Amino acid sequence: MKVMPQKNTKKAYIKTFGCQMNVHDSEKMAGILRDEGYELTSEHKDADVIIMNTCSVREKAEQKFFSDLGRMKHLKDDKPHKKIIATGCIAQQMGEDVIKRAPHVDMVIGPQNYHELARLLRESENGNGQGGGAGKAAGIAIEDNPALAEMELPTLRTKGPRAWVSIMYGCNNFCTYCIVPHTRGREKSRPFKSIVEEVRGLSGQGYTEITLLGQNVNSYDGAMGKEGDFPALLEALDAIDGIERIRFITSHPRDLSDRLIESIAGLDSVCEHLHLPLQSGSTEVLRAMNRRYNYAEYKDKVDRLRKSIPGIAITTDIIAGFPGETEENHKSTLDALAEIRYDGIFAFRYSERPGTKATEMEGGLPEKVRLRRLHEILDLQENITLEINQGLIDSIQEILYEGPVEGDQDRRSGRTRSNKIVNFRHTGHIDPGALLLMRITKAHKHSLTGQIHGGSCE
Ligand code: 5AD
Ligand code: SF4
Repeated sequence: MKVMPQKNTKKAYIKTFGCQMNVHDSEKMAGILRDEGYELTSEHKDADVIIMNTCSVREKAEQKFFSDLGRMKHLKDDKPHKKIIATGCIAQQMGEDVIKRAPHVDMVIGPQNYHELARLLRESENGNGQGGGAGKAAGIAIEDNPALAEMELPTLRTKGPRAWVSIMYGCNNFCTYCIVPHTRGREKSRPFKSIVEEVRGLSGQGYTEITLLGQNVNSYDGAMGKEGDFPALLEALDAIDGIERIRFITSHPRDLSDRLIESIAGLDSVCEHLHLPLQSGSTEVLRAMNRRYNYAEYKDKVDRLRKSIPGIAITTDIIAGFPGETEENHKSTLDALAEIRYDGIFAFRYSERPGTKATEMEGGLPEKVRLRRLHEILDLQENITLEINQGLIDSIQEILYEGPVEGDQDRRSGRTRSNKIVNFRHTGHIDPGALLLMRITKAHKHSLTGQIHGGSCE
């Protein structure tokens, strides 16, 4: 039976910036709001509650956030009851200053405090002086929360077949450019059993692919010693019926153990794809970044991965123009890209993050230099990605079907185990989550084109 929305159901709009942790945190806030009687809307104008889930990992996202907030100011003119809530890493870092800069914001909640969302909303609805915009005390929740990993929040996920699952929160690494340890606090692993139960539940609901999330998944420690480390977790999840594919992000190269490489190689559902952020090909810059590995050690791990897991796709993150990076250091990054030949990269120009060590370093580079280096990196990689993708033409790949591409019912899309997008044309019905064999017919920079090859692989 279809439940018709009641006329006066409260509505919530959530806008998410940044990484997958934030995307998944938004699903948790959506779960909390659903339990509070809200319905999600895609129109911020209709919403009683607007959540802006922010990211501060790079500068641009922050500027965008404040310009979006500025445009929302007038929404309160005729609907003063509307609540605007800032969450995520900018909220955590700026706290009350978000409200000083944008007084129409009612609440500021950091990533360790989403369990407070329901209480703060209820208090503001009851007029307890929380929220209400300018002139009234706002709801601020940015305290450190050591119990975060034990908290189970309701989650409203987007429809299958893919689901995100948090396995740990925070980061202890303190790479000198990175704001994350300052906003998400110290590493906290979720209990092993809770994760296994959650994934079992997801399988029961028809999800077939899960992506495990954590800032540094390789140092996951489910508090049971070796029995509860990351490879052990992968083994337990691999044994769950109905889960076809397991992915995880992000791995720190230093913590990538041989045991983990064996797990990826040996466990059927663990996909042959690893995102392994290099950041720079220069050992000198890596030291200044406090990455705690050098290029030779990193390259050795890549060689081991490729030896043990034939066909594994490796992707990475690169930062261009770190303070003090010389032309020669930059050249080392280009050489590393040419030597390793990644399947894909995310590259960023260095951006100063207040409160991080790198902002105090000498040798800051002009914006122009950072951008030029970034473009050199992207240009080189574009050709490499295209060449690798061209090498897949005529190969047969298993894809997990996700659905039609937006705006074109007959254009369908899925992903290979190596996380490459394959688009194909098809008119009939296919269940999202179906595994299909595809013959690759064309290669592009960001995707592949294919044709169904002999139906389903089951
Ligand atoms: N400037 C540029 N890029 C950054 N990243 C993190 N912090 C910064 C920064 N201050 C990049 C890193 C990281 C990715 C998520 O974002 O490459 O791996
Ligand atoms: Fe930031 Fe480094 Fe932690 Fe990644 S590992 S979140 S780059 S501090």
